[in-house]
Amino acid sequence: MNIVNVDYDGLIPNNVGLNSDTRVKAALEKWHLGYINWWHDMGPEGFQQSLVYLRTAVSVDPKGWAKFDYVKMPDYKWGILLAPEVPDRKIPFGAHRGEKVWQEVPGEYRAMLRRLIVIQGDTEPASVEQQRFLGKTAPSLYDLRNLFQVNVEEGRHLWAMVYLLQKYFGAEGREEAEELLQRRSGDADTPRMLGAFNEETPDWLSFFMFTFFTDRDGKMQLEALAQSGFDPLSRTTRFMLTEEAHHMFVGETGVGRVIERTCDEMKKAGIADPGNTEAMRKLGVIDLPTIQRKLNLHFSLTLDLFGNEISTNAANAFHAGIKGRFREDKLEDDHRLENGTYPVLRLVGGKIVKEESPALSALNMRLRDDYVAECAAGIGRWNKIIEKYGIPFELKLPHVAFHRQIGEFSKIKADIDGNVLAEADWKKKKDDFLPSNTDRAYIESLMKPESRPGQFASWIAAPKTGIDNKPGDFEYVKIAE
Ligand SMILES: [Fe+2]
Ligand SMILES: [Fe+2]
Repeated sequence: MNIVNVDYDGLIPNNVGLNSDTRVKAALEKWHLGYINWWHDMGPEGFQQSLVYLRTAVSVDPKGWAKFDYVKMPDYKWGILLAPEVPDRKIPFGAHRGEKVWQEVPGEYRAMLRRLIVIQGDTEPASVEQQRFLGKTAPSLYDLRNLFQVNVEEGRHLWAMVYLLQKYFGAEGREEAEELLQRRSGDADTPRMLGAFNEETPDWLSFFMFTFFTDRDGKMQLEALAQSGFDPLSRTTRFMLTEEAHHMFVGETGVGRVIERTCDEMKKAGIADPGNTEAMRKLGVIDLPTIQRKLNLHFSLTLDLFGNEISTNAANAFHAGIKGRFREDKLEDDHRLENGTYPVLRLVGGKIVKEESPALSALNMRLRDDYVAECAAGIGRWNKIIEKYGIPFELKLPHVAFHRQIGEFSKIKADIDGNVLAEADWKKKKDDFLPSNTDRAYIESLMKPESRPGQFASWIAAPKTGIDNKPGDFEYVKIAE
């Protein structure tokens, strides 16, 4: 079985039998050089020689797939690991439902599959690029380590997609793999493919929001691809999801610790009004309304990643058996969706209304709804922290029409409650909803590195437990430069 069959000692650790696949092995070894160059150019700046306490995937056994040790990031073992094959697996949805899954790319769906793999692949290095300067302002060694863990795993996710391209898509796949190393987040000429992955991640609150909201979009996309009838894609994404859970943990606990620190200082200083930003900022913590505005920004940017509410591409990918729904295998319906409908929020005559739409065309919307429900649950857990301190403030998800660049609501301006605003009103109120320049400058002023083991910057609480059960003063990163 694949579980035990990991070749860990070669240049590219893998459980796909790379040693007996000379064509793909040679292509990947060549690509490896370009990848390492990319990592040096665009990976975490200033820490390439530092020893980082990282987990590395050494198996795909859910009970023990990772090992922890100090590693210099350029020496990290970026491997190709597919989840074990499910014996006798059938295509779970679409027109081919019930047929045997594909081990090779079906010719008629080749272009569609390649596009989906490239889009997923492009997000992985993009986030590493977005986060490359954050190491310089890490609030603790613990957080610094978590940032680097996320970064190396996004690197591995790029490997995962590149393996599929090199193995199954011939010359075109090789070309796409090359281009994945050429595009750059935020570059005017060769940007990354999706909007949110060209935004800046200028500070650590942005990083935590990004890992909570945007990595969670990644999770939803991977969940949908894990259902795929193209079995290698399903197996790859299933293992990626194992790693992805940590990224969202970093985001949720990161924001949670910021909230906790803020509430703690408010209590100690006897500040009753959460809106008293000035008093809070004097204490060196991030006031709750600013956290809300950051949340509004990252949520709205991430919603755009789900694409148009009504989408023929999504319908085609489902019909073809290529991209399913969130937890397709747990849903009880015909898994073909040729007749059903799904409620979609649309813009009709300048108003936001709910309309029943053909279920197949509404699949982006449906995945987005599942995403929003997960986000809401996370925000509920953040609110529990605020509640514990007895502070009268509740974080909220903004309305899905708020601050959109893609889809139905990109044509209008709406406030966080979903009221349509005239352009002039939007301009007046914008700074109530989104981080202002003053907010940004204040957060930036807090971003001073804390590199003593067990110490944390003023604006964030210590975590409840260490990584790999390490004690509070563990030296997660031995900084070399
Ligand atoms: Fe990823
Ligand atoms: Fe991630």
